[in-house]
Amino acid sequence: LPAGLLDRYGRRATDMRLSLTDKCNLRCTYCMPAEGLEWLSKQAVMSAEEIVRIVRIGVDMLGVRELRLTGGEPLVRADLLDIISALRRAHPELPISMTTNAVGLDKKAAGLKAAGLSRINVSLDSLHEETFAKLTRRPFLDKVLAGVDAAWAAGLGPVKLNAVLMRGINDAESPALLAWALDRGYELRFIEQMPLDADHGWTRRNMITAAEIRGLLSADYVLSSDPRDRDGAPAERFEVRARVPGTGEATGPVLGTVGIIASVTEPFCSDCRRTRITAEGKIMSCLFSREEVDLLGLLREGASDEQLAERWQDAMWIKPKAHGMDHVGLDAPDFVQPDRSMSAIGG
Ligand code: GTP
Ligand code: 5AD
Ligand code: SF4
Repeated sequence: LPAGLLDRYGRRATDMRLSLTDKCNLRCTYCMPAEGLEWLSKQAVMSAEEIVRIVRIGVDMLGVRELRLTGGEPLVRADLLDIISALRRAHPELPISMTTNAVGLDKKAAGLKAAGLSRINVSLDSLHEETFAKLTRRPFLDKVLAGVDAAWAAGLGPVKLNAVLMRGINDAESPALLAWALDRGYELRFIEQMPLDADHGWTRRNMITAAEIRGLLSADYVLSSDPRDRDGAPAERFEVRARVPGTGEATGPVLGTVGIIASVTEPFCSDCRRTRITAEGKIMSCLFSREEVDLLGLLREGASDEQLAERWQDAMWIKPKAHGMDHVGLDAPDFVQPDRSMSAIGG
């Protein structure tokens, strides 16, 4: 299987995103309904051993070079440390990162680092208790902030922060959020909301676009293109400098980096290097693919590594060219929002 995870459009997936659970302890409005979702049964979710086998096939047979653990919320998995330790033993050099909401991370960061986790990204939409609680429907801001600092202290950096901007809720806060992140040396990324909320409340009109985000930051900051290679990443990165008030001029040194993830208005599908495995062990070639290909079922039937690798290759071969959001608009009459929310797919 020398070709790896190729698709019809010549892209090769080397970046694997694996969801450890569909469960979560927050209820972000852009992701989950207030009452939560019907969780998968324990039996339906990949076990630690199954995860290790699937990752080994990806890395040893199919050219996966980076692994990201996602959810739901990966920290709610009781055997998280065992999973990371086993993955690290099997792959001493593999970059293993995790995307988390950081609730409870203050107590777990050092253990995660010791188990072999490389780095983390944290979802943080607001620094105001009330706004945070409105967005996540939980009063856990202090826990999250403690988690972020603990991760940095434990050596899980560089720490990246993800903020989904919601109109009238946290959009006006974006310059303050950036100032806070720059001050601490965290790399903040602003994310355009995608239509992946369980309540189907997304509308194109209400979404804060990348252009708006740049506008919101421009009173205080001058952004210039980051010279580093984007390397297939969702985030377009900018170097940040202070703006001389009322002018177009930048002043002083580079304060840090900010990223903008413009999935809707400036899509990056043509350079996508991602393959996803849901918590149920289904292959998703794209966040928006209609097709989910069952890998775990085949594994449980006793399939060989070669059979599993082939099914994975077949699933990636039919990866859609693009999500189509930029052409038709996801609120166009003929667009059907995916049934699954971000938490169920894996962020
Ligand atoms: P690094 O750059 O390696 O730190 O990770 P990342 O930015 O790829 O990972 P993270 O989980 O932090 O993802 C940030 C956001 O990027 C997600 O919340 C999504 O909004 C977006 N994203 C990640 N993968 C995809 C994808 O395949 N398609 C689209 N449209 N957006 C994605
Ligand atoms: N649109 C964009 N990003 C989303 N996330 C969750 N739901 C959405 C959405 N509808 C992001 C969170 C988190 C990551 C796992 O996914 O902010 O950082
Ligand atoms: Fe949980 Fe992440 Fe969804 Fe928020 S976005 S409800 S933290 S899975």
